[in-house]
Amino acid sequence: MALQNSELSRDQLLHSQAHIWNHLFGFIHSMSLKCAIQLEIPDIIDRHGSPMLLSELVEALGINQERTPFVYRLMRILVHSGFFVKQSVSCNDEEGEGYLLAPPSRLLLKDEPLSVRPFLLLVLDPIIVDPWQHMSTWFQNDDVTPFHTTHGMMFWDLAGQEPKLNQLFNEAMSSSSRLDTSIILKHCGGVFEGIESIIDVGGGTGTLAVAIAKAFPNIRCISFDLPHVVNGLVGSENVSYVGGDMFEAIPKAGAVLLKSILHDWGDEECIKILKRCKEAIPSKGNGGKLIIIDMVVKVSKEENELLKTQLLFDMLMMSLVTGRERSEKDWAKLFLDTGYTDYKITPIFGFTYVIEVYP
Ligand SMILES: C[S@@+](CC[C@H](N)C(=O)[O-])C[C@H]1O[C@@H](n2cnc3c(N)ncnc32)[C@H](O)[C@@H]1O
Repeated sequence: MALQNSELSRDQLLHSQAHIWNHLFGFIHSMSLKCAIQLEIPDIIDRHGSPMLLSELVEALGINQERTPFVYRLMRILVHSGFFVKQSVSCNDEEGEGYLLAPPSRLLLKDEPLSVRPFLLLVLDPIIVDPWQHMSTWFQNDDVTPFHTTHGMMFWDLAGQEPKLNQLFNEAMSSSSRLDTSIILKHCGGVFEGIESIIDVGGGTGTLAVAIAKAFPNIRCISFDLPHVVNGLVGSENVSYVGGDMFEAIPKAGAVLLKSILHDWGDEECIKILKRCKEAIPSKGNGGKLIIIDMVVKVSKEENELLKTQLLFDMLMMSLVTGRERSEKDWAKLFLDTGYTDYKITPIFGFTYVIEVYP
């Protein structure tokens, strides 16, 4: 409720204090989760196969038994935040409560095909977290991004220089792509019908290109990315890797795919990319199109949780790169400014959309 005068009621005071604590301690949620993932707690509980007592968990972790009360406290916050559940259990002489995985933890298992574990480890790596410490400095200087203020160069340049960051980033993209890709191919396969060749611009290590090639063996797929990303990758009969710079030239194909690319860039840079894409595809009459897979920000009360995630992603883009998350109006303006004639937006899952754009 908006405040009309400066006097806070007792309830407002309590609510305001809790609101502030919960926000400023938000990092404790993510860092506790990171700790559990690094200790492989979800994997250990999953392997156990039944509710796991605290004593069993501590033994399986192979850590000092004296840490038991601290493991209890770590698990307590993660039960509270919905990553684990507790269930009554009796085992040998021990009666008590055992831990089980709550559904989100399944997506953090090491061997789960749709795991987003690598994405968590990237986003919570000090290289990515440190720029948040410098955001207010960045607001007062002329650097391109808070990442630049912190590391002295653009994200993509550091990824090209630091093999550890390059690997962490590529694995993270590939893991988050696997989840999206499975849904896209299941529910939006029609988008790829009739296409003979497709180039996935900024396609990373080729997760999407390989999946399309498998689902549509008649489509020739090219994964196009910066040389440090694709160097050394070996293609197959209908998948190839090409290194290059999308701001300079994009190899020709029947369609161009841009998944989670344009949200990395500001409008001026997007206009350059969209122009290069237009040069790479045939005219609309000859079947040319762009397939953009990205967020479309929608402000609606019913989708408040999704909006929250979109706003957080938008801030991540602000911290790391020059990009932002866009509404349909923002997207339409970009397409108009680059001479595309029409577009069609289809929701896929959560905040992810497919946008088919015609030259
Ligand atoms: C956010 S990732 C998306 C990767 C992949 N499309 C996906 O959804 O998993 C952005 C990709 O753009 C690539 N990239 C950045 N600058 C590029 C450039 N100038 N030319 C080609 N690719 C570039 C990065 O290397 C990275 O793989």
